Amino acid sequence: ATNKLWGGRFEASGDENIDAFGASINFDQLMAAEDLQGSLAHVEMLQDTNIIPETDAKQIIQGLKSLQQQLAAGKLKFDTTNEDIHMNIEALLTKEIGPVAGKLHTARSRNDQVATDFHLYLKKRLPKIIQAIQELQRVLVTKAEANIETIMPGYTHLQHAQPISYGHYLMAYFYMLQRDVERFEFNQQHTNLSPLGAAALAGTTFPIDRQQTTRKLGFDKPYSNSLDAVSDRDFALEFLSNAAILMVHLSRLCEEIVLWSSYEFGYLELSDQYSTGSSIMPQKKNPDMAELIRGKSGRVFGDLFGLLTVMKSLPLAYNKDMQEDKEGTFDAVKTIIPSLKILAGMLDTAQVNSEKMAAATEKDFSNATELADYLAVKGIPFRQAHALVGQLVLEGLKTGVTLQEIPLSKYQEIMPEIGSDVYHDLQSKIAVERRQSLGGTSFAQVKYQIAEAKKILDKI
Ligand code: ARG
Repeated sequence: ATNKLWGGRFEASGDENIDAFGASINFDQLMAAEDLQGSLAHVEMLQDTNIIPETDAKQIIQGLKSLQQQLAAGKLKFDTTNEDIHMNIEALLTKEIGPVAGKLHTARSRNDQVATDFHLYLKKRLPKIIQAIQELQRVLVTKAEANIETIMPGYTHLQHAQPISYGHYLMAYFYMLQRDVERFEFNQQHTNLSPLGAAALAGTTFPIDRQQTTRKLGFDKPYSNSLDAVSDRDFALEFLSNAAILMVHLSRLCEEIVLWSSYEFGYLELSDQYSTGSSIMPQKKNPDMAELIRGKSGRVFGDLFGLLTVMKSLPLAYNKDMQEDKEGTFDAVKTIIPSLKILAGMLDTAQVNSEKMAAATEKDFSNATELADYLAVKGIPFRQAHALVGQLVLEGLKTGVTLQEIPLSKYQEIMPEIGSDVYHDLQSKIAVERRQSLGGTSFAQVKYQIAEAKKILDKI
């Protein structure tokens, strides 16, 4: 036998490099609190089912509670020779209470233990993630409300398309994030299953009470199949895909923040608190944080792909490959929460240059659709109206004359029915105001969206 916890059937110790290579303690110590929590629920159940004597159980409970206190005080020291958090805790417990600690692992395996810890870890973080998304949503709604009548160019292909309300633009991100919230909420259902009691893979001969540990740990229900319980990482994959989609959203918003704080756009000015300078160019004020969030989307996508690839060919049930499930997941949690917080602060403190936004819609042709619509209302088939306006735009681009500047006499040559009211429709503010269709950019529709959003946020 060797001196490992599992050393009984071994004659020789491992190669000197394998301890370090195989160990996960450097990262899975992040689940120390969850491991203790899981062990406490397990030992209380072992006591209540008389699987181990009450006096032993009491000692173990006391020992685990003492370890909880030491952990909270930052006094627990972990060690790579004990491989992972589970064996480190068991070793520490043994130091604390002696060999009776060995009874804790009755009717349990590290396979259901690690799965339990990992479920508990995410179960605890998901509400925090949802909360951080909602904080960003609140900022978006507040800013949207302040900017219902702020006019800006709406883009397709990054070319001026039609004028829109800046509030409308912000609300698009609100709804995107709402779908993220819903995805993470759904993610909670699959995270709230208890693997504890699946043991190594097949269940156990001991008369354990899985319902009790399920309740004790705050899970909704136990996994129905022990093989599935120890080999499922869907809850983490779902989390990572949700995180990846969330980062797509944050990255798109950050891309626009970067563009809009450039000299050429000048729509936004970030506060000093959320900007950085250059070590050589004294004039610089860089949107580093927006760029970094955009960049960090890459690592979260990597986290998702890492775990998908780890899982894709694993035979049932547990395989050591699955130890690779944690770092990427921890990394994604560690990335998305601060990204959300920084972005919320950045948007909250950014200065909106509404004149510059509106001016960008004055001298362009983003009101061309208005003119085509006007002609269509007068009875010209829309296709023909589109072609006519297209010609006017081409001419205007050559001569530097905007659609508002074309004299009425010229319009009436094209079509006598055109009246001076055409100039009213051509104003970008009016173009926005008139887009009253459901979900459109009109001020009334944006207000409607804001009211709906507040109802969603108030329910929290
Ligand atoms: N450290 C391991 C992991 O993270 C714990 C489970 C080990 N189980 C085993 N049979 N080797 O997956």
